[in-house]
Amino acid sequence: MKWLALAWLVAASVVRQPAPVVRVRGGHVRGAVSHNGKFFEYFGIPYATVNESNRFQAPLPVAPWSGVFDALNENTWCPQSGLGPIVLGEPNCLKLNIYTPVQYTKLLPVMVYIHGGCFFGGTGSPYLYGGDFFAEHNVVLVGINYRLSVEGFLCLGIKEAPGNAGLKDQIAALKWIQENIKVFGGDPNDVTLFGESAGAVSTSFMILSPAAKGLFHKAILQSGSSLAPWALQHDPIKAASTLVKKLGYNTKDPRKIYSILSKKSTKELINTISSYEDKFCVAETDIFVPCVEKLIEGVEPVVTEYPADIIKSGNYTKVPMIIGYTNNEGIYFVSADYGTSLKNNSIAIDPLKSLQTDLQFPSEFDKNCTAERIKRHYFSSYKEEMIMDMVDLYSDVHFKFPLVLESELYSRTSDQPIYYYLFKYNGLINMPKIISGFGLSNGASHADELFYLFKPHSFPLPHRYLEEKMIRRMVTMWTNFAKYNDPTPYTSRLLPFRWRPSRRWNPTALVIDSKISTAPMWDEESVSLWNDTYNKYRRRDYGFKQFKDY
Ligand SMILES: *[C@@H]1O[C@H](CO)[C@@H](O)[C@H](O)[C@H]1NC(C)=O
Ligand SMILES: *[C@@H]1O[C@H](CO)[C@@H](O)[C@H](O)[C@H]1NC(C)=O
Ligand SMILES: *[C@@H]1O[C@H](CO)[C@@H](O)[C@H](O)[C@H]1NC(C)=O
Ligand SMILES: *[C@@H]1O[C@H](CO)[C@@H](O)[C@H](O)[C@H]1NC(C)=O
Ligand SMILES: *[C@@H]1O[C@H](CO)[C@@H](O)[C@H](O)[C@H]1NC(C)=O
Repeated sequence: MKWLALAWLVAASVVRQPAPVVRVRGGHVRGAVSHNGKFFEYFGIPYATVNESNRFQAPLPVAPWSGVFDALNENTWCPQSGLGPIVLGEPNCLKLNIYTPVQYTKLLPVMVYIHGGCFFGGTGSPYLYGGDFFAEHNVVLVGINYRLSVEGFLCLGIKEAPGNAGLKDQIAALKWIQENIKVFGGDPNDVTLFGESAGAVSTSFMILSPAAKGLFHKAILQSGSSLAPWALQHDPIKAASTLVKKLGYNTKDPRKIYSILSKKSTKELINTISSYEDKFCVAETDIFVPCVEKLIEGVEPVVTEYPADIIKSGNYTKVPMIIGYTNNEGIYFVSADYGTSLKNNSIAIDPLKSLQTDLQFPSEFDKNCTAERIKRHYFSSYKEEMIMDMVDLYSDVHFKFPLVLESELYSRTSDQPIYYYLFKYNGLINMPKIISGFGLSNGASHADELFYLFKPHSFPLPHRYLEEKMIRRMVTMWTNFAKYNDPTPYTSRLLPFRWRPSRRWNPTALVIDSKISTAPMWDEESVSLWNDTYNKYRRRDYGFKQFKDY
């Protein structure tokens, strides 16, 4: 008992122990020593700033501060709708969070995580994405915030709102890391960028953007592609005019729209948007997400061409990559749209509803035929319970097919290794699946793998220790990739296999499950259904551009 009490006292004093004060652009920063004493934590460091003058534009540099900034806030958010009318976050939300080992002998690889949340939610703070396991594996982990929803992605083609402010925040964070990460023990010449869902879409845009060239050296795309229907605004003026209409105005003039929106508070804008979105995220139409920007004198753009055109041109940042998805991505989204059962489901009965707005048909007849083909593929026999068919449909349209297409284009134009994975582990901490009410289904939902990589400080998950092996496997492969360009540079008791890059047409993927195996990355029948559909009917106008190919 006495020994325990002493240990507790020691632990308690470790918690309060400050980490060394370091100097970054802006001023001095003090963090804290982690609970276990193994790493330093610096939470909520400002890397850039937003004010009224640049609310929808690229961020401004941080204003210098005097004294020492206490980097202890575990809970920083950019404005987003919380529960009902509650808007979380603060306008000046451009903060990042750093975890770095207490002891190191040379500069360490840096891993930068871009969070998901459909470009309208989430945070890079330890509240959701504690980087504890990464720091314990001898890398420096950085989690970043970026502006979301209308503030991050209002795209009007004018200087005051050119689009992609949220991606410009991410670039500002990467530049800050180049300039400052050395004082945290990180090597600015060895940066791995990784993200999940909207974070993977962002990572993809960083690969494609000339504005992010040279700021990172490796990339991991988890369940997200810049070619997904929900990753790009097709008609950004329409999305903005839908919003002003809800506020009581009727205009499509970008300047008028700007003048209306710039006078509204963030809270009012976000509440208005959440009041008219009836579908959940990926299936929504008028959303604020990245756009193909109009070229404007004096404004550095991030996305200037349709993503597939950029990859095909070969003019992008070629880096070693890990690319993968989970086997039942759709669970999370189907559950939010329909619940856990789907009797008499609307798509099965009216398959036209399955067609995304990134498809455009020359005639009603083409549209009906396509819808019928999709219906036959997914809902071929009438079953009492069609929910898992629906999950497959959501998985394929929103995640698998776009990522298949994107990686096929990379493998044709890049000489760098690409490692593919399929995560289907059904463990005790597949939280998104469990929260969606699908705890008894096999496999893994969208975002399930994240709980085997991060230690969210807001979920206690006391049974996490039962999953130690999978956590160690995942974190070891991810950090090996950052350290060696190879997730399994040698075999070990923990990882008794080599995960090889693949250059095949349907690449060989590592199947991450209780037993590790390999399998073809994609289901050829589903991919050919969607490839035919998109080859014929992909919408050609995106933002302020027509795309060339297809
Ligand atoms: C906002 O940024 C502009 C441009 O840097 C600056 O001139 C202005 O003082 C800032 N406003 C506030 C309230 O900080
Ligand atoms: C690649 O893109 C950059 C930035 O847009 C451009 O300056 C350069 O000319 C392009 N290179 C080629 C070979 O097209
Ligand atoms: C839909 O539900 C109704 C009653 O709930 C039932 O009579 C009908 O057969 C169902 N339709 C299909 C296509 O399953
Ligand atoms: C397409 O389907 C709709 C709804 O099912 C139907 O009303 C319409 O007549 C069909 N059009 C053609 C050209 O088949
Ligand atoms: C999709 O179709 C295009 C055009 O026919 C073809 O070049 C490409 O290989 C196909 N991709 C996949 C993944 O099937």
